[in-house]
Amino acid sequence: MTAQTLAKKISSREARVGIVGLGYVGLPLAVEYAKAGFPVTGIDLSAAKTIMVNAGESYIGDIPTSELAPLVASGKLRATTDFSVIRDLDTVNICVPTPLRKTKDPDMSFIVAATQEIAKYFHPGLLIILESTTYPGTTDELLLPMLEKSGLKVGVDFFLCFSPERVDPGNPKFQTKNIPKVVGGTTPACTEIGRLFYAQALENVVPVSSTQVAEMVKLLENTFRMINIGLVNEIAIMCNGMDINVWEVIEAAATKPFGFMPFYPGPGLGGH
Ligand SMILES: NC(=O)c1ccc[n+]([C@@H]2O[C@H](COP(=O)([O-])OP(=O)(O)OC[C@H]3O[C@@H](n4cnc5c(N)ncnc54)[C@H](O)[C@@H]3O)[C@@H](O)[C@H]2O)c1
Repeated sequence: MTAQTLAKKISSREARVGIVGLGYVGLPLAVEYAKAGFPVTGIDLSAAKTIMVNAGESYIGDIPTSELAPLVASGKLRATTDFSVIRDLDTVNICVPTPLRKTKDPDMSFIVAATQEIAKYFHPGLLIILESTTYPGTTDELLLPMLEKSGLKVGVDFFLCFSPERVDPGNPKFQTKNIPKVVGGTTPACTEIGRLFYAQALENVVPVSSTQVAEMVKLLENTFRMINIGLVNEIAIMCNGMDINVWEVIEAAATKPFGFMPFYPGPGLGGH
C-alpha cells in the first residue's frame, strides 16, 4: 500500500522532493525536479547557500541565475537549514560531500550527520536515495541500520537506494538531465520506486539489482578515469622528452573505432 501511494505521488509529480546538500550535485538536481513540476525543498547546513537560493541567485556555474530565479519565484523551489521539513517530504536525495581523510579513507561524517538528521524526522512512505560517492556497502551497512532503528521496514514502509552521481561541472553537452542515471535499491521494490522517481525528471534511467552494484559502478567509473588520466599524463611527459606532439598523437589514436578512448593531459583527475 505504501509503495503504491508513493508511486502515485511520484507519477503525478505531487511528491514533495527534498535534496540534502545544495552543492555541485544537489543544486542542479533540485533545479531539474522543480523544472519537472515537483515542489522541491533543498536542505543545507550553509545558511549563506540557502539565503542565495531563496533569493533566486545561483552560485553554481552550470545553473544560470536566469534559470533558478523563476523556479524560486513560482514557489517550486525553496531552501532551508531546518531538517524538520523532512516530516512533510516524500523523497530525500543525499548529496553531501565525501572528501578523503589524510589516510585516504573517505570521510563518512557528512553522510552520517545527514542521515542522523533524516532519522529524527523519519516517517512511513519515504524514499531515501544516497548520491554521495562512497565505498560499496555504505547504503545497506551504514544507512539502513540507522533508518531501521525507527522500527519501519525497508521495501515495505520506506524505500532506500544508491544512485551514483556523474555530474561533470562545466560540461556543456552532458548535464544532470541527459546523463543516464544508474540506481540500485536495497530491495526490488526500492529499485522500482527509485527508477520511477528519476524517470520523471531525467532522460535515461538504468536500474541495477542492488545498492552494492550501483556503488561499485561509481568506483569502476572513477578508477577508469583516474588510471587513464594518469596514463596520458605519463605519455605527455614522455612525448615532451622525445619532442613529439602529444595532442597530435591522441587525435590520431582516437580515430581507432574500438578499444581506445581519448583522455587528455591535465592538472587533475576530473570532478570539479
Ligand atoms: N562535483 C562533482 O563533480 C561530483 C561528481 C560526481 C560525484 N560527486 C560526489 O557528490 C557528492 C557531493 O559533491 P558536491 O560536489 O555536490 O559537493 P559540494 O561540496 O559542492 O556540496 C555539498 C553540500 O552539502 C552541504 N552539506 C554538508 N554536510 C551537510 C549535512 N550534514 N547536511 C546538509 N548539507 C550538508 C554543504 O554545505 C554543501 O553545500 C560527493 O560525494 C562527491 O564526491 C561530485
